[in-house]
Amino acid sequence: MARLWRVRHSDGRIGALKVSRSRDPDLLARAAREGRLQAALVHPNIVRALDVIDVDGTPGIVLELVEGGHTLEAELRAGSLPPERLERLVAGLLDGVEAAHRAGVIHRDLKPANVLLEAGAGEVWVPRLCDFGLARPEFEPPDAKMTRAGFILGSAAYMAPEQARDAGSVDARADIWSLGAMLYEMVAGVPAFEGDTLEQVLLRVTRAHYRPLDAVRPGVPARWEVAVEACLHVDPAMRVPDVATLREVWAGRTKWVSEGGGARRRSIPGVASPVVSHPPRSNAETFVAEGEPGPSVPPRAASVPPAPTARGVPRWGWAALVSVAVVGLVVAVWLRMG
Ligand SMILES: Nc1ncnc2c1ncn2[C@@H]1O[C@H](COP(=O)(O)OP(=O)(O)OP(=O)(O)O)[C@@H](O)[C@H]1O
Ligand SMILES: [Mg+2]
Repeated sequence: MARLWRVRHSDGRIGALKVSRSRDPDLLARAAREGRLQAALVHPNIVRALDVIDVDGTPGIVLELVEGGHTLEAELRAGSLPPERLERLVAGLLDGVEAAHRAGVIHRDLKPANVLLEAGAGEVWVPRLCDFGLARPEFEPPDAKMTRAGFILGSAAYMAPEQARDAGSVDARADIWSLGAMLYEMVAGVPAFEGDTLEQVLLRVTRAHYRPLDAVRPGVPARWEVAVEACLHVDPAMRVPDVATLREVWAGRTKWVSEGGGARRRSIPGVASPVVSHPPRSNAETFVAEGEPGPSVPPRAASVPPAPTARGVPRWGWAALVSVAVVGLVVAVWLRMG
């Protein structure tokens, strides 16, 4: 949790000063690092950090002020997005995340509340990524303290399954999952992963258990549905590998095929019209947890790793055991008779 003030920097610029409410030394170290990481990212779809200053012993981040801005979360709560506006927002969102990834920064907390919408010319809203509090450089070794803080503070509904298990070791594909969850909500108007408790949400996330987009909002372009599915695979290796590919799939310029329930994927650049092959619908019973009310439409579980199969004793093993037993019996009888 942070407090924000409108401030004038000594260089004359108006900014937003973000100061953590916490006095926890780990979280304070995180705030200073957040400012440093964000300051290195200069892109129209990322809120620029101008400075990190000391505010009575607490690090404060001086950010570019996003005037008249509200969050994507507020925009989604206000109602469904018209397709043109949605396309523009998605384009800016993908550009911003791609820029962070190119700079080697994984955000790890992408969600509608962390996207500010800046009033642009006319009716246009420009998405600006903010809150790099959980971000980390891609090639940095995991930090246990950061990981713990990250798990507590990250938002489960947009968090990749592998991040829910171990936030410290995720790569940029965790952001791809979060983008998938955000795109789903932008198209459907409802979150992909909901539940009454944190446990329910996490259970659905770790199984990629969500209602198919075409069931929630019939008639959406197939390419949008394919793009969302291409992000929401439990196995990171099955997701679109990067934002550039996601952009192509979203636009229908690259065909993305998930076969055998997500066992294989391939992208074919340069395909003008999207030819889509969906993974087979899963059996709802398979993925609904015990005691959990199942959704009215069978959920789609993308690339859920197969349950570990019990390993039996091989056939030759049984033969060897029986032989040893028979030989033992014969020897015992022979000894008694002798
Ligand atoms: N540069 C900015 N300009 C204008 N408003 C901002 C800016 N940065 C953040 N905000 C506002 O402050 C809110 C919280 O910012 P941010 O997400 O960076 O902090 P946080 O650590 O997540 O705090 P919280 O837990 O309160 O959301 C944003 O949702 C947004 O409304
Ligand atoms: Mg935030």
